Amino acid sequence: MPSEQSEENAPPGLEVVLGIETSCDETAAAVVVREGEANGRILSNVVRSQLAEHRPYGGVVPEIAARAHVECLDAIVAAAMGEAGVGWRELSAVAATAGPGLNGGLVVGLVTGKALALAQDLPFVAVNHLEAHALTVGLTDGVAPPYLMLLVSGGHTQTLLVEGVGRYRRIGTTIDDAIGEAFDKTAKLLGLHYPGGPEVERRARMGDPARFPLPRPMVGREAPHFSLAGLKTAVRQRAEAAAPLSAQDVSDLCAAFEAAVCDIVRDRVARAMDLVEDAFAPGAPRRLTVAGGVAANRSIAAALAALAAERGFSLAVPPPALCTDNGAMIAWAGAERLARGLVDGLDTPPRPRWPLDPDAPAAIGAGVKA
Ligand code: KG4
Ligand code: ZN
Repeated sequence: MPSEQSEENAPPGLEVVLGIETSCDETAAAVVVREGEANGRILSNVVRSQLAEHRPYGGVVPEIAARAHVECLDAIVAAAMGEAGVGWRELSAVAATAGPGLNGGLVVGLVTGKALALAQDLPFVAVNHLEAHALTVGLTDGVAPPYLMLLVSGGHTQTLLVEGVGRYRRIGTTIDDAIGEAFDKTAKLLGLHYPGGPEVERRARMGDPARFPLPRPMVGREAPHFSLAGLKTAVRQRAEAAAPLSAQDVSDLCAAFEAAVCDIVRDRVARAMDLVEDAFAPGAPRRLTVAGGVAANRSIAAALAALAAERGFSLAVPPPALCTDNGAMIAWAGAERLARGLVDGLDTPPRPRWPLDPDAPAAIGAGVKA
């Protein structure tokens, strides 16, 4: 278990926080200043992607990821501090991702963050990576809770009600693959590059979405969860039946897959909207936010915009560089926690599995990712 959190009195004034992110395949550090509720400024945001290291393997290799973090984190932190133009004595705290994510990478970021906090005599904040994604719209768009959030990345697919800092209600989750993972696996089976999302999107634009009929698992179900494994299998079966695939076949399969994902996202987010109706006071703005690499997909973004308009929600999407993994979101979540006196001990362990809403009932049929 993590060390107990101390509810210290937050110091008055601004929080200036160094954030470190190493939970997957981006090594990142950033300095953010919190100037008030849902009001922050990014002083620096340095991200080094390990895409080149993992590409030959068609996916993230945990050991390679951990080693790459070790090799470059010091330089990334130095660059973030240098670009921010703040000295160590001007920082209010150091924050690092403690989970969820790959254990080897988490250890690298956590140990570094704790060592810096200890050496500089600063408070340390252990950040949940999902909380950081969830709070990003406060930094980028000035959006304060409550809001509904769709998190769609290579590792996560969830709808969450963000009620406040530290208060999350998980609405839906995937019972098998994450959406980004489904894009990546579809790309792989069609012979496209890793990561597959952008490549599938590019090919989909040249394809006919109606040529290959594909299922829309879970659509119309009362339970708000997602399922992608059946869709991926259906793509495989269609691809095998049509083999050898021409370039047009690949584009048509990509278009059919993307169209199915758009329908799934639209339906599942609509169901989540039904379930959070009570969270918004009558007349208060109802907001939908999105984060994660998949949010970069233009068709999915358009489907969400149409749904939001239809249902009277405003839609806030952080810029792509802050939707994908970065240090600024960790620094911001750290600042939000620090402002509430939520700091952590130097004995905080990494938490490779760390659900934001530990009380959420397990989704029926859910595998390890729920
Ligand atoms: O949030 P992210 O950068 O990293 C984590 O997974 O934490 O998300 C990466 C995922 C990959 O699965 C990638 O294929 C997917 O986001 N992705 C996309 C697009 N760009 C990235 N999926 C669909 N369309 C895109 N344009
Ligand atoms: Zn992420």
